[in-house]
Amino acid sequence: MSTTPLEFPEGFLWGAATAAYQIEGAAHEDGRQDSIWDAFARKPGAVADAHNGEVACDHYHRSAQDVALMGELNLSAYRFSTSWARCMPDGGTPNPDGIRFYSRLVDELLAAGITPWLTLYHWDLPQALEDEGGWANRETAERFADYAAVMHEALGGRVRIWTTLNEPWCSAFLGYAEGVHAPGRTEPAAALAAAHHLLLGHGLATQRLRARDPEAKLGITLNLNVFDPVDPADEGDRDAARRLDGQFNRIFLDPLFRGEYPADLLADVSHLGLADVIRAGDLEVIAEPIDLLGVNYYHGEAVTKSPPTATAQPSPFVAADGAHSVPRGLPVTGMGWEVQPDGLRRLLNRVQQEYTGPAGIPIYITENGAAYEDVPDADGFVDDQDRLTFFDAHLRALHAAVADGVDVRGYLAWSLMDNFEWAYGYHQRFGLVRVDYESQQRIPKASGRWYAGVAAQNALPPAP
Ligand code: FCB
Repeated sequence: MSTTPLEFPEGFLWGAATAAYQIEGAAHEDGRQDSIWDAFARKPGAVADAHNGEVACDHYHRSAQDVALMGELNLSAYRFSTSWARCMPDGGTPNPDGIRFYSRLVDELLAAGITPWLTLYHWDLPQALEDEGGWANRETAERFADYAAVMHEALGGRVRIWTTLNEPWCSAFLGYAEGVHAPGRTEPAAALAAAHHLLLGHGLATQRLRARDPEAKLGITLNLNVFDPVDPADEGDRDAARRLDGQFNRIFLDPLFRGEYPADLLADVSHLGLADVIRAGDLEVIAEPIDLLGVNYYHGEAVTKSPPTATAQPSPFVAADGAHSVPRGLPVTGMGWEVQPDGLRRLLNRVQQEYTGPAGIPIYITENGAAYEDVPDADGFVDDQDRLTFFDAHLRALHAAVADGVDVRGYLAWSLMDNFEWAYGYHQRFGLVRVDYESQQRIPKASGRWYAGVAAQNALPPAP
């Protein structure tokens, strides 16, 4: 057990992240129209307890107070997303009333000395574009680049870090193959087309932003995972790890950093038409150089093929061939996700060696965090030692990766506050700050107070 603080490199960025649909509410105010999440949440059974983001944390009306809260937590950066359906409700026509909200938010952040980190797409496609085929339609990628340019016109002078997409894996495969996220489609071929068009949209938007603003820092956020074969000596288990790694990590990393899809992935999904949606020149657009990679890490997976699972349909893995995860006895969070901090260290080393190192770009952890059963005391305070321990363990793993030589420049905790956790509604709480949804009161949890200390010291205290 260590007794001295673990210091992070000078200038390390400490922040927290949120996403528009998860916190804003005001879902139909000032001209905002439906996104796919508004429409999806209305489908019976799609979201736990028929919850939705109509009010959420009411951040739309409380941004000044929330920025003050970030100040209390000593955050140096705040990663938020803009709602396309608020800024361009029909997917193509700018809505000045909606854009104004982000302009005000950015001013509030800058006044508080907090770096605004803008994500253009955190899963909330305007429903009008889904009606035209959504991400399975190539045209959506072009519309996304137009949206990027509109947002840059409004905010480019003040926002210097832009990420295009958050976790395109979830958009494509949870949304279009498994159907547990909006738009709730269960069409494996459409999911692969969506993955390609999301990447294309990223590339087109990056080109557009770069042309407008050569100095801005541009990137993308991927959720990446570590797939360990249960028995590394077993050929089936090794194939399971290779396949799932291909369909989760490499399907995005290889086009972005190498300008090609992995050959083994193309072979695995050859019956699903991916090759038909890739046009000449697309991969050069997708591989447009970026300035940083955002990595979201939550958990690892031990994977096997024995016994092969009955093809569980629908699945986010469109060509799993019997590969599936099995518990390996590690503790799990409220989401049932295994707590595996060492996976973060291994993942970062791998990503730098194979992708970001050769590209010469830094990595930022753009999300990491945990849901647990929070029990507030009479004053609403949550003594969440479990979440605090989760953060501590992952930050130690991150520190170890930095010591290994991985160029990680910052950490943005998920999440600033409890919020609408997609299909789980309000049942899973990830916040550093508790939100009482009845009163909309915000109360920092023990983990939030602890994190404020880490951010202020740029160091981890001795192990708890
Ligand atoms: C990530 C999402 C984020 C949140 C966390 C728990 O996949 O980007 O919005 O739901 O998971």
